Amino acid sequence: MPEIEITAMSFGRLALGRLDRRVVMVPAGAPGDLVEVTLTEERKNYALARIERIVRPSAERRLAPCPYLPRCGGCDWQHLSYQAQLRHKAGIIAAELARTAKLDLDPEGLVEPADAEFGYRARLRLKANRDGSLGFREAESSRMVAVERCLVADPGLRMPRRFAREVRCSEIEVVVDEDRQVLVGHLLAKPTQAELRRCQTLLSEDPTLSGIVLRGGGLRCPVGSIQVRLALEAGLALEVDADLFTQVNRAQNLRLVRYVMELSAPESGRRVLDLFCGAGNFTLPVARRGAMVIGADRDAFSVAAGRHNAARLGLSQAQFVCLEAAQAASFVKATGFRPDVIILDPPRQGAGELMPALLSLRPAAIVYVSCNPPTLTRDLQTLLRGGFRIDRARGFDFFPNTHHVEVVARAVLT
Ligand SMILES: C[S@@+](CC[C@H](N)C(=O)[O-])C[C@H]1O[C@@H](n2cnc3c(N)ncnc32)[C@H](O)[C@@H]1O
Repeated sequence: MPEIEITAMSFGRLALGRLDRRVVMVPAGAPGDLVEVTLTEERKNYALARIERIVRPSAERRLAPCPYLPRCGGCDWQHLSYQAQLRHKAGIIAAELARTAKLDLDPEGLVEPADAEFGYRARLRLKANRDGSLGFREAESSRMVAVERCLVADPGLRMPRRFAREVRCSEIEVVVDEDRQVLVGHLLAKPTQAELRRCQTLLSEDPTLSGIVLRGGGLRCPVGSIQVRLALEAGLALEVDADLFTQVNRAQNLRLVRYVMELSAPESGRRVLDLFCGAGNFTLPVARRGAMVIGADRDAFSVAAGRHNAARLGLSQAQFVCLEAAQAASFVKATGFRPDVIILDPPRQGAGELMPALLSLRPAAIVYVSCNPPTLTRDLQTLLRGGFRIDRARGFDFFPNTHHVEVVARAVLT
């Protein structure tokens, strides 16, 4: 059986080593491990493998505290010490930005650590069965691993077993709001009247629940109070329905908002375009600092929430439009709104197709918030070719124990 030394982590669940000239990728490896492996898939330049025996464990390795690992597909880096996780995330970001943006960043302190490596998720999305069992997708399969609890969830989060038994949900999101929680049931068909009545009963019998929203078959049915509050900075909170996108790590979101405000410097007299704005996580703090801002998102409910919050907070310089990001870029151009700064927070796929339209707007700066370093660096390269340079970047560890990391980079027009 071949023996390899693990030398690095990929941005994903696989650790990397070498066998002869080929890269070998293994799940659950830790840099510094010496391991015996079985090759499970062989290609010309790389191979996938499974660890059979750890000959010499890495100093970065620990026994994962979660009893559902390694079956559960959730926390793919939990077998690494938290300091090692931060080091590898910083190393990946620094290497990507050095390679593509010629940015020389010191990996030391590049990633803002989370306050807590467990108990940080205010929202959990669970697979649900009618017998009341709840869980996550198994690694490398579509089967469910049933769990009693989840270590990265807010300690106040209670598993909604009765709800899973009484309503035909394929998935349930639990959103914690102080000492209460809101349930979001995702159904494969329209919710029935009987299911809505069962939700009413659940709410009246469970004082820890403030509301339930059922989504399925094109319907969205709220029962009770489904609004949650998310503090964005001192003296500013977002009120938003629990089934809309909000950042799950609330402590880290405060830091992210602060950094995005620092990089976009949205003082009075400036114009800002906030693309992929959600319910206004950045739009509202920008408006509060005096800049004129247009927030754009394709989700009509998020846009309505943004408008509601801007009105509630008296932030009349914030406007929200419900548009695809590409349309929003041409919309602002057509209306003559010339943004000084564009904030961009796209989903994992990045904003590749949008880049030419953004370049044509010629903003002085683009502040790019990304959850996926490979698509971030791909898009930054387009900006570099279009006359921008990258001057600042920082990582925020929103998801300890997983490979995921949020990265913010600023591109300035040269
Ligand atoms: C990562 S979230 C960011 C939301 C917000 N910036 C925040 O921090 O809460 C991405 C948002 O992009 C929106 N979105 C995804 N694809 C889009 C597209 N093609 N055009 C416009 N909005 C899109 C989603 O509705 C979602 O609100």
